[in-house]
Amino acid sequence: MKEEVLKKFGELHGDTQGVNVYFAPGRVNLIGEHTDYNGGHVFPCALTIGTYVAARKRTDRKLTFYSMNFDRLGVVEGSLDDLTPAKEAEWTNYPKGVMWAFAGRGMEMDRGLDIVLYGNIPNGSGLSSSASLEVVTGYVLKDLYGFDVSNVELAKIGQYSENNFNGMNCGIMDQFASAMGKKDNAIFLDTADLSYEYAPLVLNGAKIVVTNSNVKHSLVNSAYNERRSECETALEELQTVVDIKGLGDLTEEQFEAHKGAIKSEVRVKRAKHAVYENQRTIRAVAALKNNDLKLFGELMNASHVSLRDDYAVSCEEIDVLVEEAWKVDGVIGSRITGGGFGGCTVSIVRDEAVDTFKDKVGAAYIERVGKTADFYVVEIGDGPRRL
Ligand code: GLA
Repeated sequence: MKEEVLKKFGELHGDTQGVNVYFAPGRVNLIGEHTDYNGGHVFPCALTIGTYVAARKRTDRKLTFYSMNFDRLGVVEGSLDDLTPAKEAEWTNYPKGVMWAFAGRGMEMDRGLDIVLYGNIPNGSGLSSSASLEVVTGYVLKDLYGFDVSNVELAKIGQYSENNFNGMNCGIMDQFASAMGKKDNAIFLDTADLSYEYAPLVLNGAKIVVTNSNVKHSLVNSAYNERRSECETALEELQTVVDIKGLGDLTEEQFEAHKGAIKSEVRVKRAKHAVYENQRTIRAVAALKNNDLKLFGELMNASHVSLRDDYAVSCEEIDVLVEEAWKVDGVIGSRITGGGFGGCTVSIVRDEAVDTFKDKVGAAYIERVGKTADFYVVEIGDGPRRL
């Protein structure tokens, strides 16, 4: 990929002298979904696919952006003097938002930038192409302009820009997983205080298979923001009876004892998911440490049921993929992953069952939904870097 983005850069800007190429990964979340804005735990890992950027400082204050994924848009121009979200060419709002967030923290770019980008995360798949773009942009700024920022800071800046520049009230998980990724490890992150621990993913004869439903339902962002505000209201209601900072502070028993304070049935379900999912995640990581992959898989399955029934962020296509996965011998666990309403499922599948898994789930998906699914046997990779 490095060569491809460099070549494109040369075609567009005449030469590639002094151009650097950078990479930041996408992520898949194994368990702990919709807990990251509730002060709960998540357990994602960085992938080896992600976003590549060729970048070089300019001598003026202009910005140019080119995405090899959206060739039809051509070179999109901007300026350091106008870091506001654009309606057209929306992808450029991600790097622009990061530049804006850096400037807001006193890290002003003195000169403009030419950026050529290529991403190999399937678009709209829920594997965090936007977070990887935010993190790679932050890494470019850190490296080219000498800004002193840690990778955790890059994650926070990415989330801040996505919330405040792009209007998506995401939590910190995706940016954290991309910025802090470590080969062959998942990240057990407590979003209440950002303490984290790497957990080696020793799957002993099993693989992580990501299945792309190839559907992305509209209104994803508004539905996501709605879930988030439902949880916030439920938290305020609970805070009238119990002293907590986030839903992640509650055990299941405490939740059951206090849930009467929540004044709508829908909100009880949303909060229940957040509380139970957090506890499931803690248990799942302990199970992994005990080499109890079976329990890990059962918790993944329970996570799916909760996201489907209580949190209502699944959809027919994803439910079909998960149900069909559960039927295959050698599947340890399978669930929706990411924000929901389409995108991907994540499954842990015994080595010898991977081919059967693809055949059976793929065929059933065509038969029941009339669409083709894509399968990726993924590897866990490192965080952002200059290549
Ligand atoms: C999206 C958000 C994350 C997280 C997940 C759900 O990926 O960007 O912050 O909330 O959804 O777990």
